[in-house]
Order: sequence, then structure tokens, then C-alpha cells
Amino acid sequence: MMHKGTVCVTGAAGFVGSWLIMRLLEQGYSVKATVRDPSNMKKVKHLLDLPGAANRLTLWKADLVDEGSFDEPIQGCTGVFHVATPMDFESKDPESEMIKPTIEGMLNVLRSCARASSTVRRVVFTSSAGTVSIHEGRRHLYDETSWSDVDFCRAKKMTGWMYFVSKTLAEKAAWDFAEKNNIDFISIIPTLVNGPFVMPTMPPSMLSALALITRNEPHYSILNPVQFVHLDDLCNAHIFLFECPDAKGRYICSSHDVTIAGLAQILRQRYPEFDVPTEFGEMEVFDIISYSSKKLTDLGFEFKYSLEDMFDGAIQSCREKGLLPPATKEPSYATEQLIATGQDNGH
Ligand SMILES: NC(=O)c1ccc[n+]([C@@H]2O[C@H](COP(=O)([O-])OP(=O)(O)OC[C@H]3O[C@@H](n4cnc5c(N)ncnc54)[C@H](OP(=O)(O)O)[C@@H]3O)[C@@H](O)[C@H]2O)c1
Repeated sequence: MMHKGTVCVTGAAGFVGSWLIMRLLEQGYSVKATVRDPSNMKKVKHLLDLPGAANRLTLWKADLVDEGSFDEPIQGCTGVFHVATPMDFESKDPESEMIKPTIEGMLNVLRSCARASSTVRRVVFTSSAGTVSIHEGRRHLYDETSWSDVDFCRAKKMTGWMYFVSKTLAEKAAWDFAEKNNIDFISIIPTLVNGPFVMPTMPPSMLSALALITRNEPHYSILNPVQFVHLDDLCNAHIFLFECPDAKGRYICSSHDVTIAGLAQILRQRYPEFDVPTEFGEMEVFDIISYSSKKLTDLGFEFKYSLEDMFDGAIQSCREKGLLPPATKEPSYATEQLIATGQDNGH
């Protein structure tokens, strides 16, 4: 296998970071992976177990709020994938626990990149659809020219508002810093990421993706409507954009748009063992909103996965790791299945 050089991945142990590292190792990269506590085996074992990790993965301690802590891991790298972000929608102090560390962390990473400018040729930032579409009113189609309105988020305080504010302000600060410091910077804008995963605990975004299955009602607003991308497509897009000489600017990465009612119907049919709702409380159900990935596909990127692939993979990973019960339907969904298929004999 050709060695493709050394890259740094921040937020390595998380949902996106760990899968991205798996693909980077597979494709011949060496990876300097940052985590907050490399000695915590519960949080890093899945990284050390990846194929190729023994020879080409090293773990580095770095925290978004420690200025300079990314200097060493970024030193000597040709690329940096900045994936880390605090993600706690239940935070009691979102300004200091989420918003400030996300923005400061973004700038800390870029300062380290500027200091390593002799080797770092490109920085790829994992942004979020939350930087694009959260504003007064609704549009049916979004592209990379749109930005969320942080004053609106702060005023409305919808589920996840602090995350939308943190990512929007961080990405804006990054564009400003990159331009002033001549850094080749790309942002990738995923919608809700879904699919099988290697991290051992429940990924924060799965709380939303599986909300209809787990009846996590506060997250229904995130699915009304929702857009998805498969984790593997997203990670392949990261590597594609890092390697593509013509890549420039922001790139939406999203493959499926669906309403909450449409999603519930798909889930009910495919997974009859789960008690998926047909009603969504007081909530007004909105039409589909699309995120255009045209800029990314025009560059030559191809999405590989269906919505069913995403949920099959996610549910299987959750079950293997004991994060989801085999069924949530009571009384026995099996009986209903028999009735539905006419095999029930009335006893
Ligand atoms: N998943 C989605 O649906 C989705 C959608 C759009 C965008 N994104 C973006 O994708 C990126 C990765 O998200 P994810 O889904 O993989 O979330 P995740 O599983 O929570 O991973 C995020 C990682 O960030 C790290 N982190 C948090 N606070 C930190 C701090 N103060 N210093 C250093 N590291 C810190 C955590 O590292 P430790 O291991 O050290 O705790 C964690 O592993 C984020 O930038 C997110 O905005 C995700």
C-alpha cells in the first residue's frame, strides 16, 4: 500500500472521528489522533483496535480550550481534519460549555496549523447543517451560500440552539482566520449523520436519528423535517475533499431528505419490532427541506448509501454494543405480525 503521508484528526474517539480514522488508515495514511484523555482505555480502545493502528496511529492529548495543545499533534502533518466539538444539548451553561470552547477551539487548532504551515497544506473542518438553515421562516432548498441567524437561535432557544450558535460562529471565525493567515481551509457541512459506527457508547447524534424508535420526544423537532448522510459517505467525502486539488470553500454533504411522517412510516414498515409513533403531539408537521450537495457531486464525489443502509447499520451497531433493546413494542409485536400476515389462529 502506498503511504499517503501523515494527517491529524481532532475529536478522534467520537462518532465521526473514529470512522474517519478507520478509512484514513485503510487508505494508507498515518494518523495523529487527538483525544482529551489518551489514558482512558474505555474511550480509545476502539481506535487502537483498528486495522493498521499498531503501525500508523498515534494518540495525542489535546483539549480545545488549551491554547497550544494542538501544536505537537499537528506538527509535521500534511493535513488536519478538525472534527472535535463539544456536543451536549442538555448543558446547563451552554455559553461556557459549548459556544466558547467551540469557537476558541477552532481558533486554537488554526493557530497550530499556521505555526505548522511548512507542512500543513489543507485543513478540513467538519461543520454542520446547523450553520446553514436556522433562521426565521423556512426555505425548501439550501446551498452553501446560506448562513444561520445566531440571534434567532439565541432568542428561540429551540432544541440544540447552542450547538447551532457554536458551529456558526466557529465556522465564520475560521473563514476570517484562514483568509488572514493564508490557510487552505475547506468546510464540510453534513446534515444528520447516521449509520454503523465503531465508538463503544451512544453517539450524540443517534439520540436524534433514532428518536422515533426510542420515543425521545424533545428530539422530534430535529426530525421535522430531516436530512441524512451515511457516516461512511461523510468520511469518504472528507478524504475526497482533502485530496481534491480543485476543492474550495464550503461543501454540503447530504443524501436524503424526508419528513418526520415519512421517516416514521419507513421505520414502522422496516422495523415492526419498534414502537414508532404515528402522531407527533402538538407539533406542526413540515414539508421536506432539501440540502443540495450539487457542489460536492459536481466535483466528482458519489454517494453510495440508502436511508435503509443507514438505519440498518445504526440499529445493528447499537444492538451489538447493547445500546438499544431488541424490541420496544408491547405487547409482543410478534403476535401482531402473525395477525397481520393471517397466521394467527385466534388463541
Ligand atoms: N453526528 C452528526 O449528526 C453531525 C452532523 C453534522 C455535523 N457534525 C459534526 O461532526 C463532528 C463530530 O461529531 P460527532 O457526531 O462525531 O460527535 P462526538 O461523537 O461527540 O465526537 C466529538 C468529539 O469531540 C471531542 N471533544 C468535545 N469537547 C472537546 C474539547 N473541549 N476538547 C477536545 N475535544 C473535545 C470529544 O472528544 P473526547 O473523546 O476527548 O471526549 C468527542 O470525541 C462535530 O464537529 C459535529 O459538529 C456531526
